[in-house]
Amino acid sequence: MKASLILMGLAAALTLGAPRLAAQGADGKAAYDKNCKSCHGVKGTPPAALAKQLKIVKWDAAYISARSEDSLVAVMKHGGKNMKGFDGKMTPVEMAAVAKYVKGMVK
Ligand code: HEC
Repeated sequence: MKASLILMGLAAALTLGAPRLAAQGADGKAAYDKNCKSCHGVKGTPPAALAKQLKIVKWDAAYISARSEDSLVAVMKHGGKNMKGFDGKMTPVEMAAVAKYVKGMVK
């Protein structure tokens, strides 16, 4: 009885907490981890072998701060030479959240 009450409380807390987390950019991290991390790595440092093969640059603070969120969204949408675009695979809201996350990822 006690345990099930705790579980119910937990479920309620998770349900109520989700939209708030999304607004804070947790969504962006989740979407980045799912769609980008395999090539761009944790905090924009790509896996060495892949970086060499596909010509992926490491994102440092100078690179990231020079990019606007809009330009990052454009890259996500249309892709590049070796990067496929995510148009149709990610929603515009997800792309905007990832752009925000990427901007804050490298300090
Ligand atoms: C399959 C590997 C792969 C995945 C997945 C991937 N990228 Fe890329 N990305 C690349 C490669 C390769 C480049 C190098 C430039 C090119 O190919 O045009 C690149 C370049 C970029 C650049 C720099 C482009 C520029 O003009 O400076 C940005 C920004 C970027 N990716 C963002 C993302 C984001 C955000 C995601 C996830 C939504 C993502 N990428 C997913 C492979 C990938």
